[in-house]
Amino acid sequence: MTSVGIDAIEIHTGKLKLDLANTFAPAKGEEPEKYTKGLGLAASSFPDTYEDIVTMGANAAHRLMKRRGLEPADIGRIDVATESAFDNSKPVSTYIAGCLEQVFEGDFHHANKGERKFACISGTQSLDDAYNWIKADRNRGRSALVIATDTALYARGDAGEATQGAGAVAMLIGEDPDLVELSTEQGYGSADETDFLKPNQQFPSVDGKRSVQVYLARMREALEDFESVSGDTHPDDFVLVPFHTPFPGMVRKAALLGYRHMIRDTSIEEELAAEIGRQPRYEAFEDEAAFLDAVREYTDALKGTETYLEWYDRVIAPTLEIAREVGNWYTGSVHVARASGLKHALENDWEIEGKKLLVGSYGSGAQAEIHAETVQPGWEEEIAHLTVDEQLEARRDISFEEYERVHDAHNHDKRLDDVEEFTVPDGEFAFDGWGRMGER
Ligand code: CAA
Repeated sequence: MTSVGIDAIEIHTGKLKLDLANTFAPAKGEEPEKYTKGLGLAASSFPDTYEDIVTMGANAAHRLMKRRGLEPADIGRIDVATESAFDNSKPVSTYIAGCLEQVFEGDFHHANKGERKFACISGTQSLDDAYNWIKADRNRGRSALVIATDTALYARGDAGEATQGAGAVAMLIGEDPDLVELSTEQGYGSADETDFLKPNQQFPSVDGKRSVQVYLARMREALEDFESVSGDTHPDDFVLVPFHTPFPGMVRKAALLGYRHMIRDTSIEEELAAEIGRQPRYEAFEDEAAFLDAVREYTDALKGTETYLEWYDRVIAPTLEIAREVGNWYTGSVHVARASGLKHALENDWEIEGKKLLVGSYGSGAQAEIHAETVQPGWEEEIAHLTVDEQLEARRDISFEEYERVHDAHNHDKRLDDVEEFTVPDGEFAFDGWGRMGER
């Protein structure tokens, strides 16, 4: 059976940088460590006033198609995943296709276009849709373009403000992929939740603390569901485990939960038993509260063990290196985590062809998906093309006062005002007012 997966990837970051330790923390009267250590973030990528989900998505897709020598005739499907859409009818993929048609020969009249929505998990759902389309042999030899693009902005003063970010990830999904092959095995955890909503509003209404618990609950269900088809997982099965990363501190919690689950009934659990006490589920408890206390004590002890820390540093920490500098990109976030881990692997000469990744995606509202991927022979060349370091370096570091101005400018009501641009568009798609999206 044909192997299908991610053939190519490009990342486009918002062109402004908000430094959390040196700019945001002093303005908020908070200690920098709350952001750098607690949330695990150094900075967020912020969109300049001429950037939005269309320009960022089009710029990522343009770079990908140009590098791979593709024309519109090679693409049979364009799916955009976003939770920052500005049009309830016309999908963002049509706006992006319109941009790309300005710079490539031919058009996308033959391509099926759509927009996927389920908070941050819709990027992965779009990958799944493309995978199914190709596996069903409906692609006529063409590849799919999946673009995850978001401006993850919160109202000023909201606890989520520190986790903002903006950027796009474009992925080419095709047969015999160069980067990773997607596996047929998937697991889901899904429930009707109201922890994070945007009912016809620009900024989300968030119950931040609850959203963390919902993320963990759905992720655990998804892992159990995944194991029902894959068999039990073991921490050594996976060379990297990229998770949806609203902020790295969230992944710290998810990784611990996943590890605790994966080591049950293994020699690792046995070895750790002497050091930190048995898994509480083997003991007798008076009531549920006593059981939960024991689980908490066990988990706290587990996260300080050398065995766990070695695994975390090797398998999880590399996936957070880009997120730490860019914040939350919602739909693109888990795909940034995968790219971050593979980039670290390339820079450190890891030999990982044929090795497996376990990918944990999540969307509020709420759903988690766990699936496995296999690293393909062309992965090194593909990852070597990423320009993310250069893009991060080129960002304009804004003051807090400038941040407030650009944040206002991205509030829809003010989009048509004559707002200042902080950087100069350089041969890229830029927003020029409604209906005029041009290359400058
Ligand atoms: N030094 C070191 N650590 C410090 C510190 C200091 N001086 N001050 C605080 N901290 C630590 C805290 O102990 C805490 O760590 P733990 O969670 O490990 O205890 C961490 O820093 C954050 O501090 P607070 O909990 O006090 O932060 P907060 O309440 O202001 O904000 C939040 C946290 C509620 C999650 C907020 O960031 C938020 O609302 N974010 C948006 C929602 C979100 O991202 N939820 C994640 C799950 S939902 C999802 O994933 C979908 C999505 O993309 C939105």
